[in-house]
Amino acid sequence: ADGAGVVALVIGTGYGGCVAALRLAQAGVDVHMVEMGMSWDTPGPDGKIFANTTTPDQRSFWLRTRTKQPLSNFLGFPIDKAIPRCTGILDAEEFSGITVYQGRGVGGGSLVNGGMAVTPRREHFSDVLSSVNADEMYNVYYPRANAELGVGLIDPAWFDTTACYQYARVGRKHAQRSGFPFVFVPTVYDWNYMKQEAAGTVPKSALAGEILYGNNYGKKSLQKTYLPKIKATGRVTISPLHKVTSVAPAAGGGYAVTIDQINTTGDTLTTKTVTAAKVFFAAGSVGTSKLLVKLRSTGVLPNLNNEVGKGWGDNGNVMCGRANHLWDPTGPLQSSIPTAGIDNWASGGAFAEVAPLPTGIETYASFYLSITKNPNRAEFSWNAAAGKVDLSWQTAWKQTSITAAKTIFDKINAKEGTIYRTDLFGVYKIWGDHLTYHPLGGAVLNKATDNYGRLHGYAGLYVIDGALIPGNTSVNPFVTITALAERNIEKIIATDL
Ligand code: FDA
Repeated sequence: ADGAGVVALVIGTGYGGCVAALRLAQAGVDVHMVEMGMSWDTPGPDGKIFANTTTPDQRSFWLRTRTKQPLSNFLGFPIDKAIPRCTGILDAEEFSGITVYQGRGVGGGSLVNGGMAVTPRREHFSDVLSSVNADEMYNVYYPRANAELGVGLIDPAWFDTTACYQYARVGRKHAQRSGFPFVFVPTVYDWNYMKQEAAGTVPKSALAGEILYGNNYGKKSLQKTYLPKIKATGRVTISPLHKVTSVAPAAGGGYAVTIDQINTTGDTLTTKTVTAAKVFFAAGSVGTSKLLVKLRSTGVLPNLNNEVGKGWGDNGNVMCGRANHLWDPTGPLQSSIPTAGIDNWASGGAFAEVAPLPTGIETYASFYLSITKNPNRAEFSWNAAAGKVDLSWQTAWKQTSITAAKTIFDKINAKEGTIYRTDLFGVYKIWGDHLTYHPLGGAVLNKATDNYGRLHGYAGLYVIDGALIPGNTSVNPFVTITALAERNIEKIIATDL
């Protein structure tokens, strides 16, 4: 629709984008959502929409000819393999000091994530978003986000008996024997469905190891929550395989949005321009930050302030595995949906998910993704010579996260008489310190924007995704991203329309 005008254009279809689109449409506004990834609604030759974690193919990675799996090795052997280049679901985006994993497609990160749906402990909230009224968040917006996302807790009695959480029960035993608080973590998986998977009465997804490259059945991604509601309004158009490259003030008011339509090998087919009265940046922390930094630095949006690009953090992510004794097996069948954590945030600065290693065989390993209190913050900047946006994060900054995670695992290893696995991230490498699943910040609330996500310098431009959150949420981030978006869009609809 070249030259066509819309009232509101939303860049990206993850959590922030879906909240914005749904609430605007419900308020009577016509919305155009633009998504660079695919729609993920059509089965492949194997009859499934999403590829399995154990057999990555062209659906699995965003424009790569070789997989880049978070766990690169097993028993010391590299496990990455060649795949056809395609606009697949998981982007392993490489910056000089860190690889940032992100979901690509209609539904954003909800397509690939582990579904752990955690609300930060209230006493930590002022460290997460100091300018936001905590009473409002905990009384209104967190409950709204949890309800819309379909968050639920595992049945503790089933947890205690099912084979597929033996690995998490081992995690609990080890945590408790060392005196750490063990907590159940809410998720967006359909627990009744998982029980039926275990009983063998329905097709398996969590129990078939599906996670990183999409989940075919039980996970309530945005495809099962916000997106059907968005479609039901009849006011929202979604354009997959369309990538926004510029947003510029338009002569007659509003903004001219430049969009490349791409094919599944990533080539541009045509370039379109749409004008919009209001533009919502919901391209994710990295996507939104890259766009805004480029537009400010190239003189397209010169009035964006100096906070744009700053305050980026990795939510303190660091991974590790522990080798268990032969009498302490974690089980060959492991649900791909983590549902338990070790909470040592207050005293050690680490919250560790007890994560699965769904290989289908007994590994005698416990695997963990820790979220840690890492104060380092990086900045995005425009690299004019290379024509791209760089990120200043340094791998060495993860040492703080390793130290925090060690407050848990050194103690457990000492108590259990066990050691760290050294074969999962390379040859003799204990820590997965090269990556994050939780990019946050780059257009921080109340700094790059006002306290509701309105970008300083340009009326009608908003940020409404993880870019608003200053680098850390103390737990997994998508519930906070959703709740903050619900808070902000309510204010924007009430005052700006
Ligand atoms: P999000 O990244 O979801 O969406 C942005 C969308 O914009 C994407 O679809 C992208 O393709 C699109 N886009 C980007 N640039 C664009 C452009 N220029 N034009 C058009 N479209 C563009 N969190 C959690 O709470 N619990 C968990 O268990 C996990 N687990 C997990 C596992 C893995 C492997 C990953 C990668 C991530 C997680 N996460 C997670 C993190 C969580 O998924 C993440 O924080 C949210 O998806 C971020 O939501 P946003 O709305 O900010 O962006």
